[in-house]
Amino acid sequence: MQTFGQLASSPSAASGSRLEQLAAALPKFETRGMNFFYGTHQALFDISLKVPQKSVTALIGPSGCGKSTYLRTLNRMNDIIEHTRVMGPVLLDGKEIYSPDVDVVSLRKRVGMVFQKSTPFPKSIFDNVAYGPRIHGNRNRQSLVEIVEKCLRQAALWEEVKDRLKDSAMALSGGQQQRLCIARALATSPEVLLMDEPASALDPASTSRVEDLIIELKQNYTIIIVTHNMQQAARISEWTAFFCQGRLVEFGLTKQLFTNPVQKETEDYITGRFG
Ligand SMILES: Nc1ncnc2c1ncn2[C@@H]1O[C@H](COP(=O)(O)OP(=O)(O)OP(=O)(O)O)[C@@H](O)[C@H]1O
Ligand SMILES: [Mg+2]
Repeated sequence: MQTFGQLASSPSAASGSRLEQLAAALPKFETRGMNFFYGTHQALFDISLKVPQKSVTALIGPSGCGKSTYLRTLNRMNDIIEHTRVMGPVLLDGKEIYSPDVDVVSLRKRVGMVFQKSTPFPKSIFDNVAYGPRIHGNRNRQSLVEIVEKCLRQAALWEEVKDRLKDSAMALSGGQQQRLCIARALATSPEVLLMDEPASALDPASTSRVEDLIIELKQNYTIIIVTHNMQQAARISEWTAFFCQGRLVEFGLTKQLFTNPVQKETEDYITGRFG
């Protein structure tokens, strides 16, 4: 079966409307009229967005428009910031993630996150990747060995580190550290990967490796990525959401949004007139 990602990348998806209907029918995430506050400061206004499953959705927009805030509402990372408030449904597979009965640790197992600055723990390469499975109760050495190898392979890092798994992760290069963080995020078998500018601190070669990896991963994962790099959004995503001043201005197939945007604000942004 083709994923939405593959369908969206195919030339026959040019019109998009059928595909958009299909994707909207089975969203991985959905927010409906969602508002978000830091204390009294409202950072997101009335965000209604359906994120299609098993594809890459890019969040773009000027600095301060709320991209990271939106991303963090999806695995409740904003919960750790005091005096924050989410109003309006945030649904994962149709279920409200802010319900009192939702276990946040399990939610974050399903919805992993990779940050802009690679953040390996000051531990060995092996222990970084085994960290999540151990937290979730996996004490079986053989199983951990298998998970670590599988995830490092998925993150295209295995060949570079297989002979030094006991070395500190801090001794890896920036690009390797970022791929290690991706491996660590994959180790808990998430369904969704949230990535906040994962390649912005990397050189072109490492960026290209991370992009290839994202394209590879979308076969099995729903990926939502914040990026300031519009070429990157165009290269790796099927869907793009353009945010401005806390509002979702436009959402659609990346190809259409970049070549034939509906809103003037989107056009001004992607042609570099502001932001
Ligand atoms: N921890 C916080 N406490 C209070 N306000 C915050 C906090 N984090 C972000 N904000 C505010 O929320 C708004 C959206 O910020 P956010 O970080 O989501 O923007 P962004 O689109 O990710 O920007 P950038 O592209 O610069 O990363 C901004 O006005 C910002 O000042
Ligand atoms: Mg941000």
